[in-house]
Amino acid sequence: MTHYVSGSDVHVVILAAGQGTRMKSAEPKVLHAIAGRPMIEHVLDAATTLAPTTTTLVVGHGAEAVRNRLSGRSGLNFVVQDPQLGTAHALQQAEPVLTHRTGTVVLLSGDVPLLRAGTLRNLVATHRDAKAAATVVTAVVDRPYGYGRIIRSSGRIARIVEERDASPAERQVREINSGIYAFDLAPLFGALRTIAAANAQGEYYLTDLIAIYRRRRRSIGSLVVEDPSEVRGVNSRTELAELSAMMRQKKNEELMAAGVTLIDPATTYIDPDVVVGADTVIHPGVVIQGQTRIGSACEIHAYVRIADTEIADRVTVHNFCFIVGARVAEGASIGPFAHLRPETEVGRQAKIGNFVELKKTSLGAGSKANHLSYLGNASIGPNVNVGAGTITCNYDGERKHQTVIEEGAFIGSDTQLIAPVKVGKGAYIAAGSSITEDVPAGSLGIARGRQANIEGWVERRKNPSSSREPKRRSRNAEPESRN
Ligand code: UD1
Ligand code: CA
Repeated sequence: MTHYVSGSDVHVVILAAGQGTRMKSAEPKVLHAIAGRPMIEHVLDAATTLAPTTTTLVVGHGAEAVRNRLSGRSGLNFVVQDPQLGTAHALQQAEPVLTHRTGTVVLLSGDVPLLRAGTLRNLVATHRDAKAAATVVTAVVDRPYGYGRIIRSSGRIARIVEERDASPAERQVREINSGIYAFDLAPLFGALRTIAAANAQGEYYLTDLIAIYRRRRRSIGSLVVEDPSEVRGVNSRTELAELSAMMRQKKNEELMAAGVTLIDPATTYIDPDVVVGADTVIHPGVVIQGQTRIGSACEIHAYVRIADTEIADRVTVHNFCFIVGARVAEGASIGPFAHLRPETEVGRQAKIGNFVELKKTSLGAGSKANHLSYLGNASIGPNVNVGAGTITCNYDGERKHQTVIEEGAFIGSDTQLIAPVKVGKGAYIAAGSSITEDVPAGSLGIARGRQANIEGWVERRKNPSSSREPKRRSRNAEPESRN
């Protein structure tokens, strides 16, 4: 794949300095997310498959935010365009990175996120085969509104005209400029310097380069993509939603083709990297994000959100759960209304019921926490029964402490386990206990006030005069005498 473009260098330049006025956002446009990741990341992923010698991002609006967001990626050159005077001016900013180099510049737009890696490889090959000075990626679309139009004469590209500058006849042209190009590096920057800002927006248009090359009789190629959706740009929130929907639909179709049942694909939101096994059924309103893996024959009921989680085979997740950063073993059952937070591990055949929250907690195989519990910083063995309302008091106001519950223990309802504390193998905790000390294996831990039944109390309360308790009467009188 990489030797395909070897022999001469590929230099990627991505334009991402524009404000994205039509987004009406405080965030730079290229940081708006599609399928859970900023647009610019999708573009970079496609670019990386070319194994480029250099990759340069032209940033301007929100430059710091873009740089920070991409700080995890190595080998990126950032150049700042300020002020932003148009796409030609933007590309000019990359000149310092590219002087004394040769090869092919692949120019991408930070706001065209669905572009496929295969198309980029095609672009480089087409460009080099034709020994062109410039190769433009174009598409024929039904609604060309807003895009630059490709004006051809005797079949060859003569120039590109922007919507604003186009004549009514030119506006009828349905072949559009994708804003993606390959350029021969040698003549590029010299030619860019000759572009003027003589247009409706007073900007330096990169598209003018085409007419300049045409006048200089340099060869201009084109690559017409079959699927125009691939080169759609995001200029507004409407387009952001449209492209998100397209990406989602593609993912859903892949999953269904691989044997996953989606009850209602239109309301199923699954990020591109998510893996789901065959015969898993996903109900409406489910959101699965990030690096999540779900096994086969699972059932994910309606209105569940799962992020960065590993779920094994035959797991059931009931309605309205939020699961993030967790691992769930085979055959477990979660929810409804459960919250699994990061570093949670649920063992095989274990059961987490309604209104149960787990954080940094492992629950052994076959264990159950069926109702209304908070289990945090706990290590719970297999076959433990955690009664309704059990709480691990893991935080002393400064630090978190660990609770250990060993195999087969039975924690009575409404128990507070004040960490650090350990309940030994097979031990029982009486309901309503506040456990502050370790409970040895096989013992019963009971820690609550003893019950006292006061006989006849109700009758005396209702008819104080019939009571023979003078003390009580005088106490009742006290508040009045103080008033
Ligand atoms: C551009 C093309 C148009 C094409 C369309 C495809 C020009 C003049 N027009 O129009 O022919 O059909 O893309 O999507 O090139 N940018 C900068 N600095 C600037 C201006 C823009 O970095 O000074 C960046 C933007 O952040 C964006 C990209 O360049 O990532 C395209 O700019 P945008 O303003 O969206 O151009 P379009 O009007 O869409
Ligand atoms: Ca655009």
